[in-house]
Amino acid sequence: MTEASPYPVPVIAIDGPGGAGKGTICSRVATALGWALLDSGALYRLVGLDAVRKGVEPENTMALAELARALDIEFLAGDEVVVMLGGQDVSREIRTENAGLVASQVAAQPAVRSALIDRQREFCHPPGLVADGRDMGSVVFPSAALKIFLTASVAERAQRRYKQLKDKGIDVSLSALSKDMADRDRQDTERSVAPLIACDDARILDTTSMSIEEVVAKVLEWAKEVFPQARA
Ligand code: DC
Repeated sequence: MTEASPYPVPVIAIDGPGGAGKGTICSRVATALGWALLDSGALYRLVGLDAVRKGVEPENTMALAELARALDIEFLAGDEVVVMLGGQDVSREIRTENAGLVASQVAAQPAVRSALIDRQREFCHPPGLVADGRDMGSVVFPSAALKIFLTASVAERAQRRYKQLKDKGIDVSLSALSKDMADRDRQDTERSVAPLIACDDARILDTTSMSIEEVVAKVLEWAKEVFPQARA
């Protein structure tokens, strides 16, 4: 007999470092299954942006946690998800490398992380949820029936992010990007609370030499195996 899930819907928890392709993969997998999507990194990016706008210092834990609790946000579905903060479209602003670094700083604060836990669980909508982050399998959805750790080499991840930003018309240098990525990996992996780690029960997928289509196909194959009722 299988244990009952503590969540109202089936959950696929996908974790991994920045630039491993999680955003694209999770969005395509969610669309193929017809499931909801949680982009938890966007929540940390939004807290960081809100803090910068309101002049709250990254060290001011209590004020940051308050911001996280009161965050006025909306995710509007579409070909590209539109992210709104306080009624304003910030989809582009939260994707810069600097916004990622600020997000990583605020994400290292335990009070911010706990302020966002319930908010993340509220993304559980029928018929299922694909949750993208760093601690989806370890903290937010520890009982998820399918946990995947997506990774790739730093060089490959920097290349992918470089291309992604260039395509959006955002100008960056590849070497600066590699350095930022290595710094952020270190910050995310070495923090004491909810560090980026592959859970013992996660399936590891190294995507260094895989195409997006191959990764999506693999994840959908696992989804079908674990959730035979899922449309895929
Ligand atoms: O996935 P991303 O690059 O959008 O995430 C931005 C930052 O937020 C990342 O450096 C670490 C942090 N983050 C986190 O600590 N926990 C999550 N579940 C998601 C993101």
